[in-house]
Amino acid sequence: MAFPHNTHPGRFIVVEGIDGSGLTTQSTGIVRELRAAGTAAFQTKEPTDGPAGGVLRLALTKRLGLTAETFALLFAADRMDHLNADVIPRLKMGTTVVCDRYIFSNIAYQGVELGQDWIQALNEKSILPDLTIFLDVPPETCMKRIYARQARIEHFEDVDTLSSIRTTFLSVLRRFRQEHDAPIAVVDGSNPIEMVTRDIMRHVMPLFRT
Ligand SMILES: Nc1ncnc2c1ncn2[C@@H]1O[C@H](COP(=O)(O)OP(=O)(O)OP(=O)(O)O)[C@@H](O)[C@H]1O
Ligand SMILES: [Mg+2]
Repeated sequence: MAFPHNTHPGRFIVVEGIDGSGLTTQSTGIVRELRAAGTAAFQTKEPTDGPAGGVLRLALTKRLGLTAETFALLFAADRMDHLNADVIPRLKMGTTVVCDRYIFSNIAYQGVELGQDWIQALNEKSILPDLTIFLDVPPETCMKRIYARQARIEHFEDVDTLSSIRTTFLSVLRRFRQEHDAPIAVVDGSNPIEMVTRDIMRHVMPLFRT
């Protein structure tokens, strides 16, 4: 299976990790730093607030019951819509797009039950990011952050589940690096917020020197 690479002028950066690893915090930080350096940057996330993403969110917060298969199909539909409506038009304009979660989350989370091959096949028309940052944070730390924030505890949020998803995530990313030439950087996300952003930017800035 050949995932298309990004051939547009804008850079496509994805931030991945388990729940509470700081995805939203660091996506915001990357966009802030890029803009400070004079680079046009757009922050986005999956699932989106678009039509398929809205249904997904209802299911994630358990206000709607869906089978795992339907769930996976909605994720793929949301991603296609996101790419076509938001991401690709900006990449074409030369804007850098920073996306909080992407195909790797999908494969790591849904692949456990449905098999990674099927989820991967559903997503094979999605462009590969120019850089994927994996925020590596111990599941116990993530749980503490999630509780401190007092958000609703969702679907996947307990230490054992997060640990196994973390392991799966790392193996999925390793495979994409080997088989699809996808640039992946694993960053220690357990440090203070500003330090994590600095570590991430060391991987991001070289994308703009070519
Ligand atoms: N490096 C850090 N050190 C301490 N606290 C952090 C750090 N990064 C994020 N946090 C805090 O942890 C909480 C979760 O962060 P954030 O919302 O960015 O995580 P997330 O990965 O986007 O979570 P979710 O999966 O729920 O979307 C927030 O309250 C945030 O302020
Ligand atoms: Mg978030």
